[in-house]
Amino acid sequence: MDLVKIIHVGCALFSITGFTVRGVLMMRESALLQMRLFKIAPHIIDTLLLGSAIWLAVQYGFGPIDNPWLLAKIIALLLYIGLGTVALKRGKTKRLRMMAWLAAMLVFFYIVAVAVTKSPMVFV
Ligand code: HEM
Repeated sequence: MDLVKIIHVGCALFSITGFTVRGVLMMRESALLQMRLFKIAPHIIDTLLLGSAIWLAVQYGFGPIDNPWLLAKIIALLLYIGLGTVALKRGKTKRLRMMAWLAAMLVFFYIVAVAVTKSPMVFV
């Protein structure tokens, strides 16, 4: 595996680990969620994740138009980020935050399935 791919998959692992931890803290209504580390690190990880993704796509000559799986990953990543902010910040009720957290988890595993199968229709 080349270095950029290791960075890409590594950041994906950091991202979901951090999201899981913050989700548990959110459910326990812990003040730890407000730690500076949890405010800054996700931005660095997500920037590296996206940067390495673009690097990989350019390196392998993949474009989102003729590679539907790539387009699916980009859209799903935006969804993961959007649901993530509802889960950890914007959601008004705890129930809504928990549902958004669960949905974001499912979207993340969809992205991994798309990455491995190189097909957006992973469930059929
Ligand atoms: C949460 C978001 C993401 C996760 C969890 C993720 C996960 C992965 C994984 C596990 C692989 C390795 C697949 C394999 O070697 O079998 C991979 C490769 C790759 N990803 Fe992502 N990815 C994410 C976002 C993106 C995005 C947004 C793009 C598009 C710009 C992208 C583009 C690529 C490319 C081009 C490869 C290399 C494919 C190849 O080896 O042929 N990824 N990704």
